[in-house]
Amino acid sequence: MATAFSSATASSTAFASGSITLPPLPWGENALEPVISAKTIAYHYGKHHKTYVDTVNKMIAGTEYADLSLEKLVGATAGKTETAGIFNNAAQVWNHNFYWNSLRPKGGGEPPSILKQKIEAAFGTVDACKKELSAAAVAQFGSGWAWLVAKAGTLTIIKTADAETPITHGVKPLLTVDVWEHAYYLDYQNKRVDYVNAVLDKLINWEFAAKNLG
Ligand code: FE2
Repeated sequence: MATAFSSATASSTAFASGSITLPPLPWGENALEPVISAKTIAYHYGKHHKTYVDTVNKMIAGTEYADLSLEKLVGATAGKTETAGIFNNAAQVWNHNFYWNSLRPKGGGEPPSILKQKIEAAFGTVDACKKELSAAAVAQFGSGWAWLVAKAGTLTIIKTADAETPITHGVKPLLTVDVWEHAYYLDYQNKRVDYVNAVLDKLINWEFAAKNLG
């Protein structure tokens, strides 16, 4: 699946030794403050995301999956009980790679016109799209993700549980919000709705979403 971030940039990182790498963040750890603290990013990226990378590399070492790209690995292990552990870690790597690029300092505001037109066709207004995305993010029971995706020629909002990812479901993700507690608990405690709305108003990277329209 073509997306606007490139796994090629991952080769510059020294974090991982296997075939799956931890791409560098697209901004500094403190660049999203005060909406998301540097401490949250340090743990979320440096511990959680890195652990998914390290774990999946250990799990695939010496197996038939060892040389697959991340996207092929996610696809090859989805929906199979015997590879659920690999899938969960690989999909979480992919989802986090996509999440970091879905955020940017001084984000929010108006989407680029090509995306805005599609949003208005699907939801009426950008605000209505944000409200639906927020509602999905808040309604996701337990850990998971809320996504704006392109599906059958239109845009729609979906949510996925745990490590589930839209790339195995025939839709094209445009942007995502991580609603695992590790994404917001240090900054917002139990107030997931405040985290989600602040992200949508101040950090969401509409330019990344527009590029993903392809
Ligand atoms: Fe996360």
